[in-house]
Amino acid sequence: MQEELEEYLKNIPHLVHSDLLNTISYKGEWKGRPLIVVKSGVGKVNAAMATQYLISHFPLSAVISQGVAGAVHPALNIGDIVLGESHVQHDLNVTALGFRKGEIPYSAVHDFPGDPVLLEKAKKACEKLGFSYMAGRIISGDQFISDSETIRQLSREFSAHAVDMEMAAIAQVCHINRMPFLSAKAISDRADRMAHTDFPKFLQSSAKKSFQLVEELLSSL
Ligand code: ADE
Repeated sequence: MQEELEEYLKNIPHLVHSDLLNTISYKGEWKGRPLIVVKSGVGKVNAAMATQYLISHFPLSAVISQGVAGAVHPALNIGDIVLGESHVQHDLNVTALGFRKGEIPYSAVHDFPGDPVLLEKAKKACEKLGFSYMAGRIISGDQFISDSETIRQLSREFSAHAVDMEMAAIAQVCHINRMPFLSAKAISDRADRMAHTDFPKFLQSSAKKSFQLVEELLSSL
């Protein structure tokens, strides 16, 4: 989203706008290395398209996806960071044919991992910044969740920490391309009946925390 991109535009000098597929993208240099910043748009299809496009057209060394997410784990507060150890599509449902919820039929994997080296560095970056964080499962679906009962059910079904609308798609594309991937999200809401007011209220401050974490992480690479 624009609010998630804004921190990069404010803080990184000399970013040059470039048109990549249907995304808003900027290229530049940051912390001594080439960087491409992409606003993919909302939802799994946009996220998957942007990720595959980037991987196919640029010699990337890693994909870092950041921004905001809704809390699923009850111990998470607004502004806390969730680092994705694994990523599942919670709205993929072929249970009628005997598959588990989130399972991709006839595919060996449906719970796509984050890169362990980047995860460890991101944990250290959180500690250095004094950010409260949890590492765990991020679940994604093409829906904004704003209902406590749905969140309790998703928590039971997936033992998830956070919910968003893109991470599992990006993780899947990275996994298939053997591209190191890190997801680092800041909590903007609890995905409950207050989510529609919390999300716009905390979007900017949480997007900023997520940016600060990536900034610290890139300094340590
Ligand atoms: N991203 C941030 N909050 C969310 C929510 N409640 N549901 C889905 N994606 C989100």
